[in-house]
Amino acid sequence: MEQAAALLSSQMGDVPKTAIVLGTGLSGLTDSLSVERSWEFTHLPGFPRLTVASHPGRLIKADMDGSPVLVLDGRAHIYEGYDAKEVTVPMRVLGSLGVEQVILTNACGSMNPASISGDIVLLEDHINLMGVNPLEGPNHNDWGPRFPDMSDPYDGALRHMARTVASEEGIALREGVYVAVVGPNLETRAEYRMLSRMGADVVGMSTVPEVLVARHMGMRVLAFAVVTDECDPDNLSPISIDDVLAAAAQASGPLERLVRKIVPRM
Ligand code: HPA
Repeated sequence: MEQAAALLSSQMGDVPKTAIVLGTGLSGLTDSLSVERSWEFTHLPGFPRLTVASHPGRLIKADMDGSPVLVLDGRAHIYEGYDAKEVTVPMRVLGSLGVEQVILTNACGSMNPASISGDIVLLEDHINLMGVNPLEGPNHNDWGPRFPDMSDPYDGALRHMARTVASEEGIALREGVYVAVVGPNLETRAEYRMLSRMGADVVGMSTVPEVLVARHMGMRVLAFAVVTDECDPDNLSPISIDDVLAAAAQASGPLERLVRKIVPRM
């Protein structure tokens, strides 16, 4: 991580204060960026190699309508065989470089009948059901505290601003609790029923490890989940990765518009 941070800071120039992480099927957001420079994950020491075709794996420095941003185009998942620390190396490096705030995106299933495929859900809170934690092990006190607070992991002021921007733009935005599971299988009917009863609105296989690391390092977090499948335990249809990607692509237009309007106001 130190090597990656040193390499990047020697090549990057000014470090943008805002970073964006693009989840499954949401890479299209990079098409409209004016890219200043990009680095393949494979050229960055300590960065995970991505094994899922929908994730290219690049770090991009770009300009978004006049605001400098860093974009992590692709992420590693625990289901690929990495541990929680390995999947959060890119987030640690962003924190070490001095990034102050991050926007995370992901694809999710929705147990809440109010959110249907293609909806964008603003995360208000999360439940970590992964059984692992990137903060396990000796704590590096220069990174953050041993027992980081999680009373408001998704920054209240940023969420308020995101809701305002969404209503100005006429983009429907739901809010909900995200539960993180390891995957890679989608859930059984009994599992969706349990996740819903425990208080989650949406479920996915990412984001929470990155949020824990970002909050550990004091970065402010905003996160959006795109609903790619509806998880009604009493009426569940089979789902394929192609369905997930198609639904993510459908929502990526409005999500991109939302992110472009939010970044300059952060
Ligand atoms: N479950 C877990 N992760 C997911 C889902 C789901 O239904 N959809 C997209 N990511």
